[in-house]
Order: sequence, then C-alpha cells, then structure tokens
Amino acid sequence: MTEVVEVVGQFISASNATLLGRDESGELVVYKPHAGEAPLWDFPDNTLAQREVLTYEIAVALGFDVVPETVLGEGPYGMGAIQRFVEIDESFDPLPLVKAGSHELWPMAVLDVVCNNADRKLGHMIREQKTHRLYGIDHGLNFHVDHKLRTVLWCFAGESIPSPLLDQVRKLNDALHGSLQSRVLELVSSEEFSALRDRVAGLLETPVHPHPPTTRPAIPWPPY
Ligand SMILES: Nc1ncnc2c1ncn2[C@@H]1O[C@H](COP(=O)(O)OP(=O)(O)O)[C@@H](O)[C@H]1O
Ligand SMILES: [Mg+2]
Repeated sequence: MTEVVEVVGQFISASNATLLGRDESGELVVYKPHAGEAPLWDFPDNTLAQREVLTYEIAVALGFDVVPETVLGEGPYGMGAIQRFVEIDESFDPLPLVKAGSHELWPMAVLDVVCNNADRKLGHMIREQKTHRLYGIDHGLNFHVDHKLRTVLWCFAGESIPSPLLDQVRKLNDALHGSLQSRVLELVSSEEFSALRDRVAGLLETPVHPHPPTTRPAIPWPPY
C-alpha cells in the first residue's frame, strides 16, 4: 500500500473528497488527496493527510490496533492519505457501547486524548465485518496545539486510565523522546509535536480521562 493507481468511487457523505481507489496490488483503499481537503479556519491547508497518517503511527506506537493502516502517497489527484479499506459491518451501531462505557472503547478514547481528536463522531467508529475489530477513522482534525478534544466518548470522563493502557502510554512517551521524534516532526509542526509530548506527559502525571469542556463544544456536530 504505497500509491493509488486508480479511483473507483467516492464516498458522497464525506465533507472532504474521500475516494475509493485501488493500490498497486489491486487492494481497495480509501484515498484522501490534499487537493480535496476543504479549507478550515483552525487547521493549516494541506495538512489533514499528515494528521491521518500520524494518528495511525501513534496508534501503532501505543500498540493499539484501532486505526486501519494509513500512509502518505501519490494518486491520480496528487499526494494524500491512503488508508486500508475496511469492509464495514453495516449493522454495527457504537451508541450502545458508548452508553454502557464499554471497555472495548478505552484504547480509542486514550488515542483521542493523546492525539487531541476534534472529531470523534459515532460514525467515525466502525466494525470490520470479517474480524469484528473496532476501528476509528477520519483523523484529519488531530494534533492541534489548542485543547480541541471533541468526542462522543465522554463516558470515561473522570475515570482512571486502565493500567495496561497506561503502560502503553509510557512506551509512547519514551518513543516520543527517542526513535519517533524525527518522524513526528516530518508530519506536524514543532509546536504540535511539543503539544503532543505535553499531552502524553500530562496523562502520565494525571492518568484520568478529562472531563468535557464547558466553554466550547464538547461533542462534534452532527454526532453521527
Ligand atoms: N478505511 C475506511 N474503510 C472503509 N470505509 C471508510 C474508511 N474511511 C472512510 N470510510 C467511509 O467514508 C466515509 C467518509 O470518511 P471520513 O473519513 O469520515 O471522511 P471526511 O473527512 O470527509 O468526513 C465514512 O463515513 C466511511 O463510510
Ligand atoms: Mg468524517
């Protein structure tokens, strides 16, 4: 999965150009070219694909299999994010899991706190039909320097991060001070890198999921 050789469809519900394509091996991929990114007031242009890729790489560093493989690569509309296409179980609705505060959601919630996800909608949690794995998608609005956590996962507000997950955050912390540092700086600004390290350090110091903000929207709109 390194490039998109043909585009075979488009997800029409998407706010950016989100295309279905095939990679060099003929596998289906989701292709989000920079050229199709809608301009945003709070994120610099042509950076959403890097944010998607970095989220995948942070999830890998955490040892959480919660983001489909995502790389930066070329395609018919230029550079963009290329993500493994997941065959979605269409009958899956994450709302009951959220209402129950299901532990299955914890890794995704920790990833979102670390990455400062501004767009964790219910529809951005999918279940793969074949493996029953839960995956998060649409991570273009991550890694802003300002507190922007906007999520439907406030079911964990004020709860202690489970200790096996905290061990993984500790490993991520080490990596961010070592092997991962130069890679992160290829994908986001140095200010965003510092903010990422601060969030990870903050979580280790106070290993509790944050509470929803009161001075800005806490939940993305629409929540699905
Ligand atoms: N990796 C994926 N596998 C399968 N379907 C996907 C994947 N990524 C996105 N989609 C589909 O495309 C839709 C739009 O994708 P999303 O990432 O939310 O784009 P946007 O940034 O435009 O909101 C999703 O709701 C989902 O149906
Ligand atoms: Mg979306």
